[in-house]
Amino acid sequence: MKSETMNPTYDFKGQVALVTGAAMGLGLATARAFARSGAAVVLADRDGELAAKEAARIVEEGGIALGVRCDVTDEAQVAAAVDRAVAEYGRLDMAFNNAGIQVPPSDAADELAESFHRVTAVNQFGVWACMKHELRIMRAQGSGAIVNCSSLGGLVGLPQRAAYHGTKHAVLGMTKSAGVEYAPRGIRINAVCPGTIDTPMVQTMLKGQSGAMAEIMKQQPIGRLGLADEIAAAVLWLCSPGASFVVGVGLPVDGGFTAH
Ligand SMILES: NC(=O)c1ccc[n+]([C@@H]2O[C@H](COP(=O)([O-])OP(=O)(O)OC[C@H]3O[C@@H](n4cnc5c(N)ncnc54)[C@H](O)[C@@H]3O)[C@@H](O)[C@H]2O)c1
Repeated sequence: MKSETMNPTYDFKGQVALVTGAAMGLGLATARAFARSGAAVVLADRDGELAAKEAARIVEEGGIALGVRCDVTDEAQVAAAVDRAVAEYGRLDMAFNNAGIQVPPSDAADELAESFHRVTAVNQFGVWACMKHELRIMRAQGSGAIVNCSSLGGLVGLPQRAAYHGTKHAVLGMTKSAGVEYAPRGIRINAVCPGTIDTPMVQTMLKGQSGAMAEIMKQQPIGRLGLADEIAAAVLWLCSPGASFVVGVGLPVDGGFTAH
């Protein structure tokens, strides 16, 4: 499948999107897809330099974008990124709370507390903080759509993954609770559950674990890794009027991984 040429296309002109973890991987692909659909996009990442560089590339290509440094483990930085989006573009219509990390796989009896706290701070606290501050804007507007990034790890368990999968299950819990709370107020909150997608995160994992690709393929009915653009397509659909009756779901986009 050719990257960046997927149908359907959306018209998000006049709308504003915030994407966290937007300097590379799924976040970058989604930020670029929002921009191609006409939205003004704020690319927030702990690597502010790379976020700014990618935002500049979008602008060179004719889009509207801004890069901001934002570590989602720090609530004040999250609040500042949301404020910056509103100061710059006047509103906030869509958000993809995507920033996340993996920690090394570990026997559950040996996992370090440090790993647990680190992965929870980014993957769970980060999504909580982002939703909180985005909702403050969207609540006042009476409209908006939020997509949180869970994982196949939010739907199933796997050996050696207790901490990471715990955070991704938590993302679905927060999505459902906030989703039912805000649906009556015109704001839809959903999550996407990517399978194994070819991003820098997965490339690093594959380099670090010999035989990992063969193991992944055993559980990958579709027989290949996913593309970042295939996650972007799902996020844009969840934000679009096409998903106007979709609330609180964790949508698997995983080539069939969780179907068997
Ligand atoms: N790639 C996959 O196969 C896969 C599968 C399931 C879920 N996910 C989830 O998708 C999300 C993105 O994954 P990816 O593969 O694109 O990762 P990646 O490592 O390729 O990119 C992640 C981006 O997030 C940024 N980031 C990391 N910590 C941050 C923080 N504290 N604050 C702000 N930005 C931060 C990084 O700088 C980077 O730009 C993560 O939440 C991940 O758990 C990925």
